[in-house]
Formats: sequence, structure tokens, C-alpha cells
Amino acid sequence: MRINYFYQQMLAFFAVVMTVLIILGFSFLQFARSTAYRNTETQLFGYAEALIDEDLQTDKIESGQIILKNQGVSIFVFDHTDNMTYPITTEDYVSGISDTDLDKLKNGEPLSLTQRNTDFFGNQVDTAIVYQPFFTQSTGDFYGFIAVSAPISTIESSIEDIRNNLFSAFIFSLIGATIASYLFAKFQVNRINRIRSATHKVAKGDFTIQLENKEMDEFDDLAADFNSMVDSLKSAQEEIERQENRRRQFMADAAHEMRTPLTTINGLLEGIEHDMIPENQKQRSIQLMQNETRRLIRLVNENLDYEKIRSNQIVLQKQLFNAYEALEMIVEQLKGKANDSGNELVLECPTGLMLFADYDRFSQIIVNIIQNAIQFTDNGEISIIGYASENETILKIKDSGIGMSAEEVESIWERYYKADSSRKNTKYGESGLGLAIVQQLVNLHDASVTVESVPGEGTTFTLIFPIEETKKS
Ligand SMILES: Nc1ncnc2c1ncn2[C@@H]1O[C@H](COP(=O)(O)OP(=O)(O)OP(=O)(O)O)[C@@H](O)[C@H]1O
Ligand SMILES: [Mg+2]
Repeated sequence: MRINYFYQQMLAFFAVVMTVLIILGFSFLQFARSTAYRNTETQLFGYAEALIDEDLQTDKIESGQIILKNQGVSIFVFDHTDNMTYPITTEDYVSGISDTDLDKLKNGEPLSLTQRNTDFFGNQVDTAIVYQPFFTQSTGDFYGFIAVSAPISTIESSIEDIRNNLFSAFIFSLIGATIASYLFAKFQVNRINRIRSATHKVAKGDFTIQLENKEMDEFDDLAADFNSMVDSLKSAQEEIERQENRRRQFMADAAHEMRTPLTTINGLLEGIEHDMIPENQKQRSIQLMQNETRRLIRLVNENLDYEKIRSNQIVLQKQLFNAYEALEMIVEQLKGKANDSGNELVLECPTGLMLFADYDRFSQIIVNIIQNAIQFTDNGEISIIGYASENETILKIKDSGIGMSAEEVESIWERYYKADSSRKNTKYGESGLGLAIVQQLVNLHDASVTVESVPGEGTTFTLIFPIEETKKS
């Protein structure tokens, strides 16, 4: 069964107001009734005491009765045997009170307000009566008692007035409560509807929406949660777009990188097919095709390697080894290439320098960086500087090559990035994958790599490898 939240709220508010009103009304009515009876009792006792005063004189009672007649008050006098002595009648009447009550009166105790549904003559009237004993002044003997009565209808009529007033107040409160609960329910439902319509907008892909939050209650908490949900959806959406762009860029770059060698190979093959390559050039063409094929293989391998590192598929075999010896070996391997472009490789490193890393992956990092340095330096010097600091091994690869601008430095870690696309076909590197792989490997080692470069002056790569405390000794 569906009941709108609006009606639920109204009903709840209404139920609370009604309950409070009914409880209050009843207690007030009860209080008013008992006050009215108590007042009547005090009043009736007051009359009785005024009449007894000095002595009980019939003419004084008579005149009192005349005065009080208007208010419906009747006075009766009974002697010590409970026989009515006033008003004087032809028949004998008794008060009909119990023996215990009579005994109380004899002891001087007045009898508080009692109700009966007949008067002393047997007529059917609802009356309220008090009994006040009196004693002969001279002897102090129990003479009898006065009964003062008033019709209950007069008491009830004053209560009736209160009841009527209360009823009017009840009706007014009811109208007030209805309006208040309507407004309150409307206010709450509006707040829910605000969140609903925002949710609809988000469902349609609008992630800019934000709800107002006054930090007033749970609805505002909900609004705050909603806002942070929209924020995370927004950043998730942005991340998806970023990934999608990266993927598209990667596809385009990869295709672009492969097109060059494939075009070269295709051109050469066509040349051979149509016998357009002179005999003495054929060997050279085959060599060219081999180079291009190797380049393609390297491209594919490096991509696979990069993806493997990126998706944590490789396991590092970290160990503590002599960095000097490792670097010396690399320098030895690359010396020839450096000399080809007129560069000198210099190793400045204490012979006992230790380093904690995966040996093969470490070599891969250093070779990549030194190859770049050789690639972008002509007739210069490339120094490999190593030293130890507390819990770290620091390596610097410094070249005096062409350097890079600040914007170029920012982008070199991206896949396929080449600061200048005309450098594509240089001797040792051309895919733009080298530094992307270096960075992934450095991250895997919890190490860091930074670059400083001045265009025209040279570049320095700084690597910092941590040495775990336990491995030091
Ligand atoms: N020592 C350096 N001096 C100047 N520019 C550099 C240096 N090292 C890197 N770069 C710039 O950063 C770019 C990216 O280097 P990266 O090693 O990633 O690619 P690459 O050397 O072009 O190709 P490969 O994948 O074969 O290494 C280079 O193309 C070059 O523009
Ligand atoms: Mg490179």
C-alpha cells in the first residue's frame, strides 16, 4: 500500500497534537470539576458555620434561608437523634446518614461534601450536602447538626461553561494543528523532492549538481552524502574519460610508431619485387629491413614489458649488490656507442658503493638513461656519479647534451613522448617508451627519479634507491 510521505508526516504530527490536546483537555476538565466541588464545599461549610455562630436561632436560620434561596441553597437542622427540626413540617423526616457518620458528628467532625440523588423529603434531585455538628453552648452537649445542600446542577453548569470553552479551544487548536502540520509536511516533502530531482539529474549524467546543506538535520546529512557521491561519480567519470583518451592516444601512437618501419620494409620489398634495386644495394636493403624488423620487435617487446610492469606482473628479485661493479659493467658495454658520437663516459663512484634493487631491472633503468644521454649529446661528456647517503644510494647521470625545456621535462615520462619528433630516427632510441618503463621500474623499487635540464647545456637524471634498514649490515 502506498501512502505518500506527505500524508504520513501530516498524520504523525496530527496524532501527536491530538493526543496532547485530549490528555490536557481531560486533565483540565477533571481539575476544574474537583475545584468546583471543593469550592462549593467550602462555601456550604461557610454558610453552616455562619448560622451556628453563637447559638442556633430559628429566626436567624429562617432569614439565612431566605437570602440563600436564590442560589438554590437549602438549610436543614437535625437534632441529636437525627430528627429534622428545621424546616418545621407536619411529618417527621430524618437525614438518613449512617450511624458511623452520626458518631463522627457527635465527635465534632463535620462531614465533607456528599452527593445524593434525593432531598430529605424524598424528591428526586441531585444534591451536594455538607453536615456540620453543633453543641449546646452552656453544657457543650451534642445538640444536633446542620445540613446545607446545593443542587448539583448549579455546580455542573459552571463546569459545562469550562467544557464549552475547552471545546472551542480544541477546535481552534485542531485547525491550527492542521495548518501547521500541512506546512511542516510540505516543507519536509519539498526537501525530499529537491534530493529526488537532483538524483534524476545525476542519473541523466549531470555531475555538476550540488545540494544546499544547512547542517540542520539528517536531511542535510543526506544532502552532504549526496554531494560527495556526485563528486566521486564526477571524478570516476573524468577518470573513465581520461583512460579512454589515453587508450585512444595509445592506439594512435602505437599505430604511428609501427607505420614507419612497415612503410620502409614495404617500400624495399616492392623495390625488390620490381627489380628496382641495383644489385650492389640489395645487401644494404636487406640489412635495412632487418633493422626495421628488429625495431618493430623491440617496440612490441617494450610495450609488453611496460604493460607487465604496470599491471604488477613482474616480481622483483631485490638484493644488495655492489653498485660500482654493476655500473662499471654497463659503462663498458656502452662505451663503444658513446665514442661513436664523440662522447666520453665517466664513472665517479666509490668502489664499495652498495645498492638494494633487482639487479637486471636496475641495469635496464641505467642503460635506458645512459642511452638517452648518448643519444642527445654529441662530442660531450656523460658522467655517472654514485654516492651513499643515510639509508639511500644516490646515482646521477649527467650529460652535456641538448637539454630540454621545462615543458618537455614534464612530458618525458609519457609513453611515445619524444621532445622533438624529428629525433625519431636517431641511432639508439626512437619509440619514446624508454623513460616510461624507467619510471614504472623506479616506482616498483620505491625509489625516485627526478630530472634537471637546461636547453643547450645538458640534462641530469637523479635516482634515489632506498636501502632497507635490515639489509644494511
Ligand atoms: N638526456 C636527455 N637529453 C635530452 N632529451 C632527453 C634526454 N633523455 C630523454 N630525453 C627526451 O625525452 C624523450 C623520451 O625519452 P625516452 O627514452 O622515453 O624515449 P626515446 O629515447 O625517444 O625512445 P626509446 O623508447 O627508444 O628510449 C626523448 O625522446 C627526448 O626527447
Ligand atoms: Mg630512450
